Amino acid sequence: MAARARPRRTASQPLGHQTLVARCPGAVQAFTEVLWARLRREAEDALERAPILAPLFLDSVLNQHSFEAAAIHRVAARLRNDVVTLPLIVQAFNRALEADPEIAAALRTDIIAVYEFDPACERFIEPFLYFKGFHAIQAHRLTHWLWLNGERDFCEYLQSRASEIFQTDIHPAARFGRGIFLDHATGLVVGETAVVGDDVTIQQDVTLGGTGIQAAERHPKIGSGVIVGAGAKILGNIAVGDNARVAAGSVVLRPVPARATVAGVPARVVRIDAADGMARPMDQILLDLAREAFVGTI
Ligand SMILES: CC(C)(COP(=O)(O)OP(=O)(O)OC[C@H]1O[C@@H](n2cnc3c(N)ncnc32)[C@H](O)[C@@H]1OP(=O)(O)O)[C@@H](O)C(=O)NCCC(=O)NCCS
Repeated sequence: MAARARPRRTASQPLGHQTLVARCPGAVQAFTEVLWARLRREAEDALERAPILAPLFLDSVLNQHSFEAAAIHRVAARLRNDVVTLPLIVQAFNRALEADPEIAAALRTDIIAVYEFDPACERFIEPFLYFKGFHAIQAHRLTHWLWLNGERDFCEYLQSRASEIFQTDIHPAARFGRGIFLDHATGLVVGETAVVGDDVTIQQDVTLGGTGIQAAERHPKIGSGVIVGAGAKILGNIAVGDNARVAAGSVVLRPVPARATVAGVPARVVRIDAADGMARPMDQILLDLAREAFVGTI
């Protein structure tokens, strides 16, 4: 299937968006259906090109009945072992999704975020089947729900399993919004009281950690539309404002204003973008997908 031309976020183009999924529930169903149809088409193409991987395409996509079921199966297939079997993890995911519809909405928005923001991603099936950052955030969404529901041992075992498989160490209590893109994901560490907003991109080897001298509320609060560059360390109970950018390798010890770019060790503000003219790429792509559902051009 030919890759579709789409707008890409550039370094000079701040994020600044809210998800359509959040603001326009009426579009969600059409969007989900078109996403699922598209994923199946991509899986059929992939099966034709790489029949040696047939079990992967069949089990993870083509023999599943919905986008959510397929996503749950894929993440569970990566996490399972002799202790936590595939049916056990699938069942836990289903309980979580049934109890909290926000988890399914976040899952859909996350895959859109990867497709939109990763220049290397040409098909939805790539994050869906292969990208461990996408799988890591879905595993976290499940462990977070288990944490909130008092299933502490199951939650902590799954979290340790996720860190083994995905090389991410995200405390189950950490809170994430929708549209999260964990690029590469290797080496990501997120502390217990960290909060991450919507539409946030986090590169590999990032720490959202404590300073070691604060108790209780001790981890960063990351606003929406933020980009955190590779290797950045954001330490302490500090706020990073909406649409801010943290340069690769920075050590951030003080609050970051909205729309600021910070860089260095310790990080300093190197620029602040104007508030007007903010791009809304997530809205755009969701609208495009929803429109495709109606005109039937995919
Ligand atoms: C933060 C970032 C987005 C800045 O991009 P930008 O807005 O185009 O900023 P500029 O390149 O104009 O740099 C602005 C200033 O910050 C400095 N700067 C930029 N990135 C820096 C970094 N990582 N560390 C230290 N200083 C940095 C520049 O040297 C420049 O300083 P000057 O004004 O004294 O010359 C980009 O540098 C960055 O770090 N992106 C993360 C990319 C990443 O993690 N890639 C990994 C992919 S696998």
